Amino acid sequence: MSTFDYAPALESTAIVSIAERYGLFINGKFVAPKSGKYFPTINPATEKVLAKIASANSADVDLAVAAARAAYVKVWSKMPAAERGKYLFRIARIIQERSREFAVLESLDNGKPIRESRDTDIPLAAAHFFYHAGWADKLQYSGNGASPKPLGVVGQIIPWNFPMLMLAWKVAPALATGNTVVLKPAETTSLTALLFAEVCQQAGLPEGVVNIITGAGGTGALLVNHPGIDKVAFTGSTEVGKLIATSIAGSKKSATLELGGKAANIIYDDAAIDEAVEGIVNGIFFNQGHVCCAGSRLLVQENVHEEVLAKLKVRMGHIRLGNPLDKNTDIGAINSAAQLAKIKELSAAGDSEGAERWSAPCELPSQGFWFPPTIFTGVSQTHRIAREEIFGPVLSLLTFRTPQEAVEKANNTPYGLSAGIWTDKGSKILWTASKLRAGVIWANTFNKFDPASPFGGYKESGWGREGGRHGLSAYLKASN
Ligand code: NAI
Ligand code: MG
Repeated sequence: MSTFDYAPALESTAIVSIAERYGLFINGKFVAPKSGKYFPTINPATEKVLAKIASANSADVDLAVAAARAAYVKVWSKMPAAERGKYLFRIARIIQERSREFAVLESLDNGKPIRESRDTDIPLAAAHFFYHAGWADKLQYSGNGASPKPLGVVGQIIPWNFPMLMLAWKVAPALATGNTVVLKPAETTSLTALLFAEVCQQAGLPEGVVNIITGAGGTGALLVNHPGIDKVAFTGSTEVGKLIATSIAGSKKSATLELGGKAANIIYDDAAIDEAVEGIVNGIFFNQGHVCCAGSRLLVQENVHEEVLAKLKVRMGHIRLGNPLDKNTDIGAINSAAQLAKIKELSAAGDSEGAERWSAPCELPSQGFWFPPTIFTGVSQTHRIAREEIFGPVLSLLTFRTPQEAVEKANNTPYGLSAGIWTDKGSKILWTASKLRAGVIWANTFNKFDPASPFGGYKESGWGREGGRHGLSAYLKASN
């Protein structure tokens, strides 16, 4: 049988204009960092430098927190709630209007396929602002008492896997509830947050309500430990989440922590196998597997596991890896050299502990950071690849014989962020879901997100919920 290739369908980069270097966004303006220091951000698909980003030091963090405090006291906490809502609606509309610009910039800086930044990240980011805009003047109906109050100034730290979407998850609920923010994006993916700063200017958002400071983990730690903030909202690794929990212990600060995961995707023998295979692929290969709720542990009922594996390998053979800006691309670049090294190290541990590796045959570009879609079979629960978050396009397959065994294996993890269940029987979905200790459980689908739905984890996957009515509580002082 002859095969044919897709003709390239490159998205143009003409719509974005990237400055040579960026300052910090403090009190409504871009300012040079007091530190005088800058670091490069690169395109992980080419390793070319895109821009220089400011590295904020403690004097910069002081300025940002002071600006947020002044805006909170003088303007934002006093503004009628319906007026706050109007700003959020305006921001949402501008994100929609500039969505192509955001999508291209995100794919350049992060390495994710344009299909995903265009169809998932940016539309969902706008949806979060729309959703929370609607809440701004209805907080008395949110289940937090008759007149819930904001907390004050919030320090927010986000990761590199969904830069703009995580910004929206953090900023939209904070502003809707009357808080002001200092946000620090991840050091490898600051550009869309800096474009969002322009959106704040365009929307006429009062100065200091949103401040964006860039820098690495050290800058994040300065923000977390700053005495002028009332709450920390963090998404990232469990390791840093634990550091943050330790450093704020005994202070008045509250925290929401959105951390790692090692989700089970459970395939029962009565599932629609072809649909389940699509769900498995979406569960682990979406966003190069850089997803905290990724279905990275595939649990398949033993009597169908050969069929599932055979179909999965065929499907994986059709995944297109390459230029993130090509609209045909399914898997883009790994976000950084460090992350690629981590994926390689854990995969090598899979080999040495006795699991069997299979990677889809695909050509890896010579520049940039890449890893082929990979599955390990013969995995046991003690293997590192079954226990640790790989955060890459690597799936571990385990089998089970009874529903009880599936549940025990699924729950055998320090994490508990998400899970998937595939079966023809509604009763089996309900039975299984009631026994799984995971914050989000998908049935006959995977990786579905909606701003109205709370998201968050059990155990080491974090504290608190984001999204929905529950997410608002994390930014409010309840009243009677
Ligand atoms: P990380 O947790 O170090 O970085 C996330 C954010 O926290 C970044 O903005 C970073 O600058 C900031 N940060 C780092 N150290 C900090 C500190 N001491 N205080 C305050 N902020 C700090 O994650 P990293 O190193 O980028 O990735 C390492 C691993 O973490 C990944 O391989 C993956 O397994 C996991 N991870 C999980 C994420 C999730 O959404 N669950 C997101 C990112 C990473
Ligand atoms: Mg970058």
